[in-house]
Amino acid sequence: MNPSSFGPGFDPNTPNAARMYDYFLGGKDNLPADREAADKVLRFVPEIPIGIRENRAFLVRAVRFLADQGIRQFLDIGAGLPTQRNVHQVAAEHAPGSRTVYVDNDPQVLVHARALLQDSPQVLVVEGDLRRPEEILADPALRRHLDLGRPVAVLLLAIVHFIRDSEDPAGVIAKIRGALPPGSYMAISHVAVDERPQAAPGVERVYSGASAQFVARMSREIEPFFDGLDLVEPGIVNLHQWRSDLPVVAPELDRIGAYFLCGVGRVR
Ligand SMILES: C[S@@+](CC[C@H](N)C(=O)[O-])C[C@H]1O[C@@H](n2cnc3c(N)ncnc32)[C@H](O)[C@@H]1O
Repeated sequence: MNPSSFGPGFDPNTPNAARMYDYFLGGKDNLPADREAADKVLRFVPEIPIGIRENRAFLVRAVRFLADQGIRQFLDIGAGLPTQRNVHQVAAEHAPGSRTVYVDNDPQVLVHARALLQDSPQVLVVEGDLRRPEEILADPALRRHLDLGRPVAVLLLAIVHFIRDSEDPAGVIAKIRGALPPGSYMAISHVAVDERPQAAPGVERVYSGASAQFVARMSREIEPFFDGLDLVEPGIVNLHQWRSDLPVVAPELDRIGAYFLCGVGRVR
């Protein structure tokens, strides 16, 4: 990755949450500071790359499920750096003509997303911060691209664990849910530390110096984020247990407790 592509004001020494995620996924869009911080996280939780691959596999299954429900509009908040099988590509396979908006608050993610994802008139990339959901939903470009009077699927995948309790993640999710018409859906995935509570402070410490700060939560703290949604089967489960008709990345995950929860719910 060439840091000069990010323009002035870019600090290559601050670990970036999106690029650390790219490194965990085996990507090339990361810099030494990202790799150093990610390697520290891996010392606390060596199985992170498995969880992240499962998260991307959940994304594919969730988008396919939503397309089968008739959803043709997708709003992916905290989209991350482009990787393989992004939301609009999966949507195009199962529901041609679907429209997708990618939102992120990271300027470097936006540069890459605009270059690589906005490859068709069905795709739009906008800057936005999940902590200010009203601004995202009021964005004029987003509203030209999506008809918020018709069902939309909002994806909050591996982003809510970057929202502090003091920033009211449950309230943020409720505001989005309340703005969506009936028949819309929300899909959420969130790291759970039930299996390794002792590793949580170390991981939080590494991310405290990064572009987004990880918040360690137990499953009992994550489940209320789905309140007010009619959960589709199988409810709130570990990623690999959600409608996985594809080969599971790591079957040994079945033997452990909550490590990365997900669910999809319908808006009433
Ligand atoms: C770990 S990546 C997840 C990418 C993708 N959603 C996935 O599940 O594969 C988290 C992304 O959320 C973005 N992010 C973190 N906090 C955010 C916020 N408050 N508003 C918008 N985006 C945010 C980061 O910049 C990063 O791109």
